[in-house]
This record gives sequence, structure tokens and C-alpha cells, in this order.
Amino acid sequence: MLKTMLDIELEFYLSLLCIYCFTGSSAVTDVFVKRGDDVLLEVMDDVTKDLEFLRWTVNTNSVLVEYSLGGKPTVPEGYTGRVEFSVENYSLKLKNLQDDDSGVYTARVTGDEEQTITKYMVTVEGPVSPVDLNPDSVSISSDSCNLTVTCSTEDSHISSTFTCDTKTCSQEGGDQSKVTNSGASLRVHLLNDSIICYHSNQISWTQNMTQIQDFCPLHAGLSDGVSICLVKTVVFSVGLIIMVSVVISVHLMEKIRKLKSNQMYIEFTLLQ
Ligand SMILES: *[C@@H]1O[C@H](CO)[C@@H](O)[C@H](O)[C@H]1NC(C)=O
Ligand SMILES: *[C@@H]1O[C@H](CO)[C@@H](O)[C@H](O)[C@H]1NC(C)=O
Ligand SMILES: *[C@@H]1O[C@H](CO)[C@@H](O)[C@H](O)[C@H]1NC(C)=O
Repeated sequence: MLKTMLDIELEFYLSLLCIYCFTGSSAVTDVFVKRGDDVLLEVMDDVTKDLEFLRWTVNTNSVLVEYSLGGKPTVPEGYTGRVEFSVENYSLKLKNLQDDDSGVYTARVTGDEEQTITKYMVTVEGPVSPVDLNPDSVSISSDSCNLTVTCSTEDSHISSTFTCDTKTCSQEGGDQSKVTNSGASLRVHLLNDSIICYHSNQISWTQNMTQIQDFCPLHAGLSDGVSICLVKTVVFSVGLIIMVSVVISVHLMEKIRKLKSNQMYIEFTLLQ
């Protein structure tokens, strides 16, 4: 199960990489990898036709693997078990990547001449932390409402103010976003009367949202407000009338009953 998911992920990166296949060998391909995952760095076939010697390095000086055609690939001790080299297609698989593994990975070949055939900028990232979305201040008048919220992560925060009149709400200055200290993106925006705080990097995202009406009830809209108010008044009035009638009739019946029994008593004493 785990293996399959890993394969799917690798395939995803593979397809991602192939978008860049046509951009030329000197270009650097950006690859983002989730901490703990593997990644497959491939080289293009056509450039390796007259290959005699190939070397993968990281950050230009640290050798990951060296391979002479017909020989066995050599991997320095520090990378044993952490990289897998394919003698068929010269791809390099980096395993269980950690933050320190972020860097520029380069494949160079020596044939007729030495040349760089592939370059990857690998960035290892952890999942982004959850976000808190809290109101800072609300001010309400008869025809407007201003709400300021702050969206915060472990290491960063962003504030934004929303203004509602009786019909619509808007965000002051539009969408607000920034890059956090850990290189992720933090964004606050308004969508269908929901305030959304979105925290994301290349491999994951989290979000938190709140309804603007919870703080700015004005925005129910004038016409809606009137009809709801009317219905409430009618229901309340009818209820009141029924209650009063019940009380009055109970009271009246009580009086009649008393009158009747008094009358009977008088008649009874008269008879004696
Ligand atoms: C290159 O070899 C690796 C390891 O055998 C394999 O996973 C990958 O799919 C191969 N790539 C291509 C394009 O055949
Ligand atoms: C909300 O802000 C606007 C613009 O800053 C201001 O004109 C308005 O009076 C404010 N409304 C309230 C209820 O504070
Ligand atoms: C926002 O509202 C529109 C129209 O009312 C609707 O089509 C859309 O799906 C809504 N979007 C979200 C994210 O709720």
C-alpha cells in the first residue's frame, strides 16, 4: 500500500519533471519533496549517447555517484543506502529526504567533452502548520460594520480589515498575503461572505475560515431584515392576542361559575 502510494508520487514528480524536459538541459528544474519522501532525478536519453563517464553531485562539490561506462557505479560512504543509481538510464533516486538534503543536484558527463546534462533544485519541505483565525476588533454602526481579523501560524501572522454596508462586504486593500519566515505563503481573502485564511507551501496546505455575518450581522440585507422583522412582529402579536384571550376567558368562566354557585346557595337557604 505504502509502496504503491510512493510509486504514484514518484510518477507525479516524473510527469512534473517532463514538463521541463523541453526547456533545455542548462535550465534548473525545481522539485519540491515532502520531508521523508523519495525523489527520482532523471537525465535525458539523447545527451547520454556518447557517454563515457557520468557523475552526480550535490551543490557542485559533493559527489553522490560516479559511473564509468561498463564499470560499477561508486557511491561515497556518506551516501551509501541513501541514493540509488540506475546504470540503465542514469537516473538517481534520493531516499528519505530531510531538510539538509535541499540543494542543487547536477549530472555531468564526459564523452567528447564534459558537459552538464541535468540540474535540479531540490527543496525539502515539511507540512505547513495549522492556522488560527481570530477577530481583533469589531465596530458596528447603523449602516456599516468594520471587522479586523488576524490569521496566525507558529511563526508568522497577517491582519486584514473587512467593511460591510447593509448589502455587501469588502476587504480593505483586497486579498492580503505574505511569505512566512519558513517560506510558506499566508493569505487572507473573502469568498462568499466567508473570511478564509490559507497557509500553504509547495507540498501541503491548511486553512481556517469564519463567517463574516457572525461578527457583522448588518449584512443580512435591508429587504430581508424588514421581512424577517415583520414576520417576527406578526407572530409575536398573534401569540399575545391568543394568550390574553385565554386569560380573559378563564377569568370570565371562573366568575360565572362563582356567580352560579352563589345563586344556588341563596336559593337553597331561601328554600329552608
Ligand atoms: C530509470 O530507472 C529507474 C530505476 O530502475 C526507474 O525507476 C525509472 O522508471 C527509469 N526511468 C525511465 C524513464 O525509464
Ligand atoms: C468603518 O470604516 C470606514 C472607513 O475607514 C469608516 O468610514 C466607517 O465610519 C467605519 N464604521 C464603523 C462602524 O466604525
Ligand atoms: C460561492 O457562491 C457561488 C454563487 O452563489 C457558488 O457558485 C460557489 O460555489 C460558492 N463558492 C464556495 C466556495 O462556496
